[in-house]
Amino acid sequence: MMKSIAGAGKVIKGSLTVPGDKSISHRAVMFSALAKGETRVRGFLPGEDCLSTISVFRKMGVSIEQEQDSVRIQGLGLHGLKAPEEVLYCGNSGTTMRLMAGILAGQSFSSCLTGDESLEKRPMKRVCLPLEKMGAKIKMQGEKGTAPLEISGSPLKGIYYESPVASAQVKSSVLLAGLYAKGKTSVIEPSLSRDHTERLLGAMGVECSTNTLEDGRVEISLEGGQELKALPGEYLVPGDISSAAYFMASVFFLPGSSLRLKNIGLNPSRCGILTVLEKMGAKISLENCSTVYGEERGDIYLEYGPLKAVDIEGDLIPRLIDELPLLAVLATIAEGETRIYDAAELKVKESNRIKACVENLQRLGISAAETEDGMIIPGKGSVFSLEGKRIPSFLDHRIAMSFSVLGLLCKAENPMQIEDSECIQISYPNFFKDFEKVLDEG
Ligand code: S3P
Repeated sequence: MMKSIAGAGKVIKGSLTVPGDKSISHRAVMFSALAKGETRVRGFLPGEDCLSTISVFRKMGVSIEQEQDSVRIQGLGLHGLKAPEEVLYCGNSGTTMRLMAGILAGQSFSSCLTGDESLEKRPMKRVCLPLEKMGAKIKMQGEKGTAPLEISGSPLKGIYYESPVASAQVKSSVLLAGLYAKGKTSVIEPSLSRDHTERLLGAMGVECSTNTLEDGRVEISLEGGQELKALPGEYLVPGDISSAAYFMASVFFLPGSSLRLKNIGLNPSRCGILTVLEKMGAKISLENCSTVYGEERGDIYLEYGPLKAVDIEGDLIPRLIDELPLLAVLATIAEGETRIYDAAELKVKESNRIKACVENLQRLGISAAETEDGMIIPGKGSVFSLEGKRIPSFLDHRIAMSFSVLGLLCKAENPMQIEDSECIQISYPNFFKDFEKVLDEG
């Protein structure tokens, strides 16, 4: 499906609630399935990725009722999953495949994880290697360490794992396997990646400790054999800051805009986008902040203002990894050159996001450049008039949504046309509807 976007002459106004956090939605279902008894979740993200997680657990005997953002999970306990009779299809979802690999490694049955064309190209050695060191038996059936993953459940032992990448998927996979392992499991990350796993496990009664080492790396540890307790009451997933980010950025593309984004997850390990926007000169207010089951949340209010370019690098990268395509787009209206370093991870996401961003910006006449571990984007110093083109989404939801935001600079006669725009279903099924909701005639 091709989607046309034009925003010139309009403004962004009002307030918006975005769908639930993708990372937390996955974990809420996974961990509830491993606890004994019923858990109720609201604010669940009914995007394709999280539905893949639900479908995988249903195939292992977990009863899950889901209607829109409301989910009821009848958890079977740490050792209650049943051997699946079919392959476990994870669709486009790296989180499903990598976290499931950790859970499945310690079961008493065999299983097979598969995914779509994109997922079956993504690196799985990063999780299989540490899991194998714990005693897991995994065959990576794809080329060069990719899925399908054939997992023969086996007894596991704890591990002290120094991960070369700050990846929450790697960390979570190893920690989840650690629950099934004998003894202590520790993961050491170069810098802290999103810590929803640690927080939700903590809320469910699992002792999981985090320490910053002298060299700045972060160690996360837990003891094997700890049971998860179903959450009392209803777990309310906060809005996804990665989804809210498209609207935050939109405010700066249309002078006169202002927007309030309601009940957005404000976990510091995800708030890199706010840090960067502030460094660029944006005025942001946080309102109605609270913490529920260990996750901060609140409203974000933003107003239009001019932006200046910044360098984005180092420890900040894991805190905004999914927002980098959007920041590449936002860089075009900032004053000066935006440089993104230390972001080689972008090459192994749903698409090669460095290549996708740079190629698409160049297609639009913006002389962005690809570097070894990031990109450099020249900014015009203010909003400008852009002639829309047909832009491939690379079947990547974040590329489709980021370039839709750039379409706000286009006139109705010459809109941005996003190809294969239905890929937004992965993380934000109502993205275009919500976009129209806040886009005013000005
Ligand atoms: C996620 C972690 C991140 C992120 C992905 C979701 C998670 O990946 O890009 O969208 O839910 O753990 P990495 O941990 O591999 O960087």
